[in-house]
Order: sequence, then structure tokens, then C-alpha cells
Amino acid sequence: MILTKQYKIIYKYFDRVNKKMKKTIYRPNNYSLYKAVNVLNQSGVIGFPTETVYGLGGNAYSDQAINKIYEIKNRPKINPLIIHVSSFKLAETLGEFSDTAKNIALQYWPGPLTILLNRKANNGISEIATAGLNSIAIRIPSNKIAHLLLEKFGKPIAAPSANLSGTVSSTSASHIFDDFGSQIDMIIDDGPCLHGIESTIIDARDNNLKILREGSITKEDIFRTTNLIIDENSENKIIAPGQLEKHYAPKASLRINVEKPDKDEFYITLGKSNNFTNSINLSQNADLTEFANKIYSVLRELDDKKIKKIAVAPIPNSGIGQAINDRLKRASK
Ligand code: TXA
Ligand code: MG
Repeated sequence: MILTKQYKIIYKYFDRVNKKMKKTIYRPNNYSLYKAVNVLNQSGVIGFPTETVYGLGGNAYSDQAINKIYEIKNRPKINPLIIHVSSFKLAETLGEFSDTAKNIALQYWPGPLTILLNRKANNGISEIATAGLNSIAIRIPSNKIAHLLLEKFGKPIAAPSANLSGTVSSTSASHIFDDFGSQIDMIIDDGPCLHGIESTIIDARDNNLKILREGSITKEDIFRTTNLIIDENSENKIIAPGQLEKHYAPKASLRINVEKPDKDEFYITLGKSNNFTNSINLSQNADLTEFANKIYSVLRELDDKKIKKIAVAPIPNSGIGQAINDRLKRASK
């Protein structure tokens, strides 16, 4: 093949990126899990799949690992991390479970629910991971690879979403590589995430239950399964920095609840919609689960394509629609 000089330079660049990617991204198998456990034991940082979004994980007992997570994410140290464990038994060593909290945990774990509890004294978790607070947010993920990893590691993994602070979460291994390159020791690639939106966070420190972040498990679900009522006004109270106004944001500007986009806007829509020229329909059947599953990936793609203005159609505010609207609202600030 005859290559022009310019093409050769570009080719070499992509070849280098590809080689780096190959050295960082691993398929899930015994070897990569063994390697991941070694990295975690040496206070390294890994990208790993969960059923919600990918996590940027480190040994939750190690200040060194936790510092590295904050540093590469450019995350303010006041924003604590979720602690992931493989079993309820291990979770009980970390936080104080009331009967109510235990009831919810047994109902939803493993799964996309994070429970905020009072932190047990001397539980060994790095104080930096919980931002010096006397609370702790814990979850048991249901993704098979995450579960195997946690079991093999045997210790808690502190993991925020695997994206630069304030930006769109990663729902695939390549998203993580785009954000961090080979700054992290390895990424386990388990394909696209099942839900594509972060876990629901419930504050169960006392019997006055509050939702701190909406997700695929809604307060209606929790009521239906446990008869527990969640404080309706809880969403206004910012105690988790993930509730900060601007968050989950692409580089492009984003307008929400748009029925008719402007000419210079790229339109994200769902259901039966007119054929707009610059648009993408994330679910022809207006299936909100499908929409949630695709939205982050599409926002990242539009950024890659240097789209400057995005408009999103109105999203029904029911079920997971509440979580989608919450994220889109913050992304649009
Ligand atoms: O689905 C998820 O939850 C993903 C996967 C990787 O598990 N993780 C995730 O982490 O979304 P992150 O760091 O992006 O969001 C965690 C949220 C933040 O808003 C943080 O402030 C809140 O949880 N949080 C963690 N520990 C807390 C604590 N002790 N008190 C209050 N909020 C806490
Ligand atoms: Mg996050």
C-alpha cells in the first residue's frame, strides 16, 4: 500500500492508541480477574463493569488507591465514594443497619441500589473515601463480573463512576479509555452496561427514608416491595454532591423538554416523532429503559462529533423517567 506522509503519521498515531488500548482493556476471564485483584492489592486503580455504569475502583482500605481515584477523576475531596462489596456480611462490618435498612438491602441486593448508613467506627475504610463523614454509602452490584471480582478480591472496592468529575458517566470500556487513557492500570470490558444510569441512592440512616439520587429502582418500587414510605420532599436536600446542580454534563449545551428543536440543534427524541434532519430516536417504542440505556453513550458520541447544541424531547416523568429527567436537568444547567 502506498501511503502519503500525512496518512502515515495519522496511521502511526492510531496504531499507538490501539496498542495502548489493547494493553489497558481486557476481556473478563480468569486471567484478567486475577490481574485486577493484583492491581487492587497494590493500591492501583481499575475500570470495571457494573449493571448501572462502569466504576473506577480501588481498594477501599487503602488511602493511596483512594487518593489516586480523586486525582485522576479531578474530583473534589468533599465528594465521598460508594463502597462496593460482595456480601451482606461484609456490608454489616462497614455500616449500621437498622431493621428497615436490612429489609431494603435484602430485597434489592445485589442490584442497582446504594444504601446510605451511619458508618461503623474503625471499619477500616479509608476516611478519604467517605470524605471524613460519619456516614457510608454501600452497594452490592449484580453484574456477574463485578461480583466475581469483589469475591476474588475479598475486600470492599471504593468506586465512583468512571468519568471525569462532572461529566457523562461511562457505559462502556472505551468511554473509560477516552477519559483516562493509560492513567489507570487496566479496564475490564464487559460490553455495554445493562441499565446505563447510576444506582438509586437511599438514605436509610434513620426510619425517615429519603431518596438522594433517583435511579432504575424508584420510590414506588420500594413501597410496593417493602411497604416502606419514602419522604416525598427529600429530593430538595443536597447532602450528596452528586446532587449538585451541574453534573452529568456533555461538552455541548443541552436544552430539555423541547418539542421543536432549533435549526442548529441536534435533537434526541423517543417514540413516534417527526423525522427531524439532525436527530436520533433512542426508542421507537418510547421505552424509557431503552432510552436510559443509550443516553450517555449518545451524549458522548455527539461530543466526539463536536456537536455544539443538543435538544432533548420531553421525557415522561414516570418510573426510570424520573432518573432520566434528573440527570438531563443537571446536564442542562
Ligand atoms: O451506579 C453507581 O452508583 C455507580 C457504580 C460505579 O456503582 N457509582 C456512582 O458513583 O455513580 P459516583 O461517585 O459517581 O456517585 C456517588 C454518589 C455521589 O453523589 C456521592 O456524593 C454520593 O454518592 N455519596 C457517596 N458516599 C456518600 C456519603 N457518605 N454521604 C452522602 N453521599 C454519598
Ligand atoms: Mg458520577
